[in-house]
Amino acid sequence: MKEDAGQFEKRKQEHITLALEESTQSVSSSNWDQYQLHHEAFPEINFKEVDLSASFFSYKTSSPIFISSMTAGHQQGEIINARLAALSQNKQILMGVGSQRKELHDAEASNEWKKIRKNYPKSLLMGNLGLTQIISSASDDIQRLVDSLEAVALIIHTNPLQEVLQLEGTPDFRGGLNALEKLCKKISVPVVVKEVGFGFSRQTLEKLNETGVAAVDVSGKGGTHWGRIEGLRSQNQVMNQASLTFNNWGRTTLEILKDFSEVKASYSVWASGGVRNGLDVAKCLSLNAQMVGLAQPWLKAAVVSEEALEDLYNRLQFELKIALFCTGSVNPQSLSLRKVGQWQKA
Ligand SMILES: Cc1cc2nc3c(=O)[nH]c(=O)nc-3n(C[C@H](O)[C@H](O)[C@H](O)COP(=O)(O)O)c2cc1C
Repeated sequence: MKEDAGQFEKRKQEHITLALEESTQSVSSSNWDQYQLHHEAFPEINFKEVDLSASFFSYKTSSPIFISSMTAGHQQGEIINARLAALSQNKQILMGVGSQRKELHDAEASNEWKKIRKNYPKSLLMGNLGLTQIISSASDDIQRLVDSLEAVALIIHTNPLQEVLQLEGTPDFRGGLNALEKLCKKISVPVVVKEVGFGFSRQTLEKLNETGVAAVDVSGKGGTHWGRIEGLRSQNQVMNQASLTFNNWGRTTLEILKDFSEVKASYSVWASGGVRNGLDVAKCLSLNAQMVGLAQPWLKAAVVSEEALEDLYNRLQFELKIALFCTGSVNPQSLSLRKVGQWQKA
């Protein structure tokens, strides 16, 4: 089904409104308490020494925390993205932009990102496209999107449940792995693969070894639920009911990180999906995640003000620093190497 520009903007705006509602969050099914970090009563370090900086290829960041891909292509999105890009620049953290799908067929759509790039030249932006788009697009066209954004990486999202529950969705994923492998060979920046909150199976984590991706963001269940969002958007009773049936679909971020520890991976692991505070971030780091992303919490702050975004960044950093300090870890690498976590019995 071909979508016109008005429909596209309406859909993106509905996504933002619904993503901000509590009813589209699946926090009740996230299981952060199942994994606990050990408290260290003799940390033998000074809180001031705890260093949160991280790196991604040649880029240095102030934190392993990043802004997960969100919106693009409509007026409200421009303000949100400008605030997020300002934070990315001021704090030197990675930011995934929303899907650049519109730019594939509409050259004017790239103006939004050109403006942001001009205003925030030092922001660390990562491009974004869906797996279904890379299956049907030439790699030169995708490279054009990376170049227009001056992206430091390209994120490819796969979202079968969302596509099938979305009235305008394109649920045809044939040839996905193959297309990903081809893309990784041709594109000039590292490729990161993510879901949108339903996670990956262990078999898929293994298959991704053969594609050449630089990182897999496990994007598990526990936060924003895209089945619920599409179900609420839909006026169609069948779609609506089906989205409720799949209310608890997917694997949590922690479950996948646990699997990952047993997979011999050729790529780095990133984590996101339901991450809501600095302690969640610390748990992901201790399970070997290199970068940890949040989407909805940044969105909630970005619709308020730049100050609200900065407050959120400060809170997340402070909480992460406390978790490192109270486990006797001087930096994120030390937290993951020292294996200071423990799974709780069910
Ligand atoms: C308003 C909104 C728009 C989103 N758009 C995209 C997108 O264009 N591309 C993408 O890969 N993920 C998109 N996502 C998914 C997020 O990157 C993330 O995977 C998901 O929301 C789970 O993270 P959370 O629980 O921290 O919100 C979007 C999320 C939100 C809240």
